[in-house]
Amino acid sequence: MPVSKCWRAFLLWVKLNFEWILQDTLMLLHVPEILTKSQVATIRHTLGSGSWVDGASTAGPLAAESKRNLQFSTESTDYAALSQSIISALEKHPLFVSAALPKRILPPMFNRYAGGQTYGNHIDNAVQTDRRDGERVLTDISVTVFLSEPEDYEGGELIVEDTYGSHEVKLPAGDAIVYPSSSLHRVEPVTSGERVASFLWVQSLVRDAWHRNMLFNLDMTLMKLRGQIGNTEEIVALTGHYHNLLRQWG
Ligand code: NI
Repeated sequence: MPVSKCWRAFLLWVKLNFEWILQDTLMLLHVPEILTKSQVATIRHTLGSGSWVDGASTAGPLAAESKRNLQFSTESTDYAALSQSIISALEKHPLFVSAALPKRILPPMFNRYAGGQTYGNHIDNAVQTDRRDGERVLTDISVTVFLSEPEDYEGGELIVEDTYGSHEVKLPAGDAIVYPSSSLHRVEPVTSGERVASFLWVQSLVRDAWHRNMLFNLDMTLMKLRGQIGNTEEIVALTGHYHNLLRQWG
């Protein structure tokens, strides 16, 4: 093979593999059915009877400039119970737990976009205060749980940017998207209907996204293998390695 052809093949290999590695590291994960449709309906009903405040009031000074939405008031009587119901649902979801390895899930909040409202490009604050105990927490993972069906509104896509472009997310009510808090992201203007969602941050047991992703892939593969061949001696040994890696990286 001529050198130039070899070089081109190598570049293509690097491009394909680096794209794969970067996308792998970004790990935008769709977690289906965090909530059932009936849980979504109950939450939406309760949200409808509470009070909403300007979303910019809870953003940092920079993000506030581009944040145009409403947030369910954390002073509302129902807020704590609603927030806890999302945490309980997340903690019960094996895919979410495996991907996020949560150490602390900050109390979820709720937002609403309508009439052209939008949230421009931003990176979430690195530090959030847990309102339950005043603890300052470093955020590793951002989560959006969709509470409106995609056909109920126009626009409102969550766009997460990386080196290779934009990832567009619009999911069924009850589904969640999980992504690293270090990602640049925005919510496109909602031009008709309304988009209601819950959003939250997680501090992970494993702070490094690459390590977290490797553990997630290993856990998923082990789960599949266990389903295929049962708990063989080798599966038990590999599961031990998973836990030892978690010890090492956590
Ligand atoms: Ni954000």
